[in-house]
Amino acid sequence: MKASLCWLLPLLILASEAQDQPTKRPRTKPKQPRPPRPGRPLRPTPSFPRPQPREPAEPTDLPPPLPPGPPSLFPDCPRECYCPYDFPSALYCDSRNLRKVPVIPSRIHYLYLQNNFISELPLEAFKNASGLRWINLDNNRIRKVDQKVLERLPSLVFLYMEKNQLEEVPVALPRSLEQLRLSQNLISKIPPGAFSKLEKLLLLDLQSNRLRDDVLRPDTFQGLKSLMQLNLAHNTLRKMPPKVPPAIHQLYLDSNRIETIPSGYFKAFPNLAFIRLNYNRLSDRGLPRNCFNISNLLVLHLAHNQISSVPAISSRLEHLYLNNNSIEKINGTQICPNNLVAFHDFSSDLENVPHLRYLRLDGNHLKPPIPLDLMMCFRLLQSVVI
Ligand SMILES: *[C@@H]1O[C@H](CO)[C@@H](O)[C@H](O)[C@H]1NC(C)=O
Ligand SMILES: *[C@@H]1O[C@H](CO)[C@@H](O)[C@H](O)[C@H]1NC(C)=O
Ligand SMILES: *[C@@H]1O[C@H](CO)[C@@H](O)[C@H](O)[C@H]1NC(C)=O
Ligand SMILES: *[C@@H]1O[C@H](CO)[C@@H](O)[C@H](O)[C@H]1NC(C)=O
Repeated sequence: MKASLCWLLPLLILASEAQDQPTKRPRTKPKQPRPPRPGRPLRPTPSFPRPQPREPAEPTDLPPPLPPGPPSLFPDCPRECYCPYDFPSALYCDSRNLRKVPVIPSRIHYLYLQNNFISELPLEAFKNASGLRWINLDNNRIRKVDQKVLERLPSLVFLYMEKNQLEEVPVALPRSLEQLRLSQNLISKIPPGAFSKLEKLLLLDLQSNRLRDDVLRPDTFQGLKSLMQLNLAHNTLRKMPPKVPPAIHQLYLDSNRIETIPSGYFKAFPNLAFIRLNYNRLSDRGLPRNCFNISNLLVLHLAHNQISSVPAISSRLEHLYLNNNSIEKINGTQICPNNLVAFHDFSSDLENVPHLRYLRLDGNHLKPPIPLDLMMCFRLLQSVVI
């Protein structure tokens, strides 16, 4: 049964993007990674053709680099790239079938190198461009990153290397980093101390890699004092990650093999508002009582597990996804975060009414109608799917 689904909460969008649209950008983030916009359009149509990159069958069968564009107004503009005249700090070298990083002029802050065939970042890759703030290397073939190439970029704030062939997290990442996106690589190793100096890092995306429990040591995330979003979805973890930084706001662990959550695990995170644990192996046995009954949680995703009873939640929770589990019955009085009897008086203030507004229960062993005590408790519910 569906009640109104036509409302949307900005926070929900914020929380759901990481999983649903893994390549879309911009995504959940405290800041938009967008260079300041000059008065004219950010990205005028370049004057040379921009064909779609053709994916070769084999890495050895790379399409030829595209012919260089016309001369630029900037004498230092690499011929394989585009230098917008009204945005001198940006350099567009994306989708050009490049195998190497071109020589980047030192005036460049925003560098677009996505959708090429770059396989390596050697020491000299960004030699003169020490002012770089934003590098997009998504969708290349990078396997090797020189141990010192990144530490020479003291202003780097965003580093995007999604969809490459990295087997480990690059070392010597600059302290200035705020966003590190390494999803869809082959990462199975995190060198010791890889993140230890990244005190400003807000977002760490390691989803769709090959991370196993033994890679995440108690000191792996140590030092990430500002970390707000940690995405470890689509790996092969069996356990919850140890010592996640306490500032965390969003923790994404969908599509792993997690069976149990240690008792009190989430109590360490006073700001945690979004938890995603869809597609794991959680059952009642693995969920300590009250494990999700934490006061600042707004959105909890537990769909596609093997849970058979609705876990205790706090009255602040707004969205609860329990679809595709093994729930057979639901007792609204038992799961009500407040004492149901206490606010039978409907005229009482809404202050203490549980905040739950969206509840998914479909794909369980439940049948409509929705129990009356559930509706009595969660009076702000706008949508229940059962
Ligand atoms: C790097 O910068 C120096 C000093 O500004 C300049 O002399 C040199 O030609 C530049 N090198 C390249 C490869 O652009
Ligand atoms: C949830 O936690 C609160 C505060 O710690 C507590 O009062 C409440 O009884 C808990 N809910 C359940 C269902 O145990
Ligand atoms: C639900 O739980 C309450 C309190 O534990 C109990 O009194 C009530 O009988 C239960 N309702 C049903 C339908 O089982
Ligand atoms: C989840 O539940 C829905 C609704 O019952 C069902 O249509 C769907 O096939 C289920 N998905 C899986 C993967 O079991």
